[in-house]
Amino acid sequence: MANQDDQFKKVISHAKEYGYVFQSSEIYEGLSAVYDYAQNGAELKKNIREYWWKAMVQMNENIVGIDAAIFMHPTTWKASGHVDAFNDPLIDNKDSKKRYRADVLIEDYCAKIEAKIDKEVEKAEKRFGGTFDKAQFLTTNQRVVEYQEKINAILSRMAKSLEHEDLADVKALIEELEIADPLTGSRNWTDVKQFNLMFGTKLGASADNAMDLYLRPETAQGIFVNFLNVQKTSRLKIPFGIAQSGKAFRNEIVARQFIFRMREFEQMEMQFFIKPGTQAEWYEYWKETRLRWHLSLGMGAENYRFHDHEKLAHYADAAADIEFKFPFGFKELEGIHSRTDFDLSQHEKFSGKKLQYFDPEENKSYVPYVLETSIGLDRMFLAVFSNSLKDETLEDGSTRTVLALPSVLAPVKAAILPLVKKDGLPEIARQIVEDLKWDFNVVYDEKDAVGRRYRRQDANGTPFCITVDHDTLNDNTVTIRYRDTMKQERVNIEALRDLIKQEVEMRTWLMKM
Ligand code: GAP
Repeated sequence: MANQDDQFKKVISHAKEYGYVFQSSEIYEGLSAVYDYAQNGAELKKNIREYWWKAMVQMNENIVGIDAAIFMHPTTWKASGHVDAFNDPLIDNKDSKKRYRADVLIEDYCAKIEAKIDKEVEKAEKRFGGTFDKAQFLTTNQRVVEYQEKINAILSRMAKSLEHEDLADVKALIEELEIADPLTGSRNWTDVKQFNLMFGTKLGASADNAMDLYLRPETAQGIFVNFLNVQKTSRLKIPFGIAQSGKAFRNEIVARQFIFRMREFEQMEMQFFIKPGTQAEWYEYWKETRLRWHLSLGMGAENYRFHDHEKLAHYADAAADIEFKFPFGFKELEGIHSRTDFDLSQHEKFSGKKLQYFDPEENKSYVPYVLETSIGLDRMFLAVFSNSLKDETLEDGSTRTVLALPSVLAPVKAAILPLVKKDGLPEIARQIVEDLKWDFNVVYDEKDAVGRRYRRQDANGTPFCITVDHDTLNDNTVTIRYRDTMKQERVNIEALRDLIKQEVEMRTWLMKM
């Protein structure tokens, strides 16, 4: 656990030191769970968004993208169920006066049991070596099976209680498990209460006739209310999708874990409109397709897993998370939700307008069902960033910190370095920058010895360093150094553009999907 904490602290401080993420309004002591993306962070975030947009919109003939407003008519949120049901169950500790999410306290309790399972697996792996069969061990080892049964029983009881709004039983569960305030150890709890997560604001100049609005807690509703407008103007036929990326806001109670859980964050969502009755097959299709998108980035298949929801949101008939192994363990990265016709039917009811699709094959109109894929851009940023940050010990015993970002996402693709600041080398390096900047984000760096510059670019996540030296003057070649292998090659200046393009272009990476 201490190791995980250390690694996570390293991620946060590296993100700050290298211009990726800053605390919002830091000079005023910051604002809790709100963050700003700095010069490198904004580029990385933009590249992730583009990688998603390309895979979802550009590569699919039947998916289009929109950009709806953050403000929406307040009835939207009544219809969507967010006014009545977008709540978190809260519990206060009477001694410490700290407030917690009751479900998170219980889930954290289960995560501790899960850590015990991991330990048993680790021990057994050591004991049995190459012959170890993990799947078999998990289903046959008495102690592990008992641990797993305990987790299942706790989580399914919690899911049932939350579904039936039986908050007294959620409190009873916390008491039976003897869960204590993680900060003080006190078990003096209040009752569990529901708390709505939407931020309210006002539209209009005078207090008397101002209209109460909400900041959208998900981008999806902007897609639902535009469903017919888009369908009619694009003339798309079912099945088809509408995608968008944009800000969402939630008044999160447990706001911790850096950019994992923020109050202002960005979502990348896609609603796929389908014929009722086909949702089970599309659910499987999108689970698999989205996982392949993640795997195309090469961050290790072992770092992903599916988690099927026991407690379904008010709109869903099936839901799963793609979980990622963050520095603090496996947690939700993306959700795949079968939303039925809940949202469109609700909007029909509340607006009095028909939101139906005429199916020429069936020769009838119906309210389509919806399959949703929803990923947090900031959470994806954290997954990529934390997975890429490594401390390496090199063959000569020295160490280096490298941010081995997938090169397609790296903010800066290449650093151009003159070996020395004289003899015409800076001029050639500047000329290379001038030439490459049309295609890639590149930087010029002449400060410090070249070895130090390499290390700086490694830690910054730059996949290529291009060094101009005295040989360049004679043969027009430069050294290209690869961040991950630290291999160096001599190449002609004319070849640089194509070489970098082949390595960083989205086509190369998305072809792996
Ligand atoms: N439209 C469905 C929806 O909003 P969700 O599971 O509440 O579903 C989808 O959110 C994704 O948005 C999550 O998987 C997560 O990646 C991201 N997300 C949700 N709340 C977040 C928060 N407070 N901070 C950062 N990302 C968040």
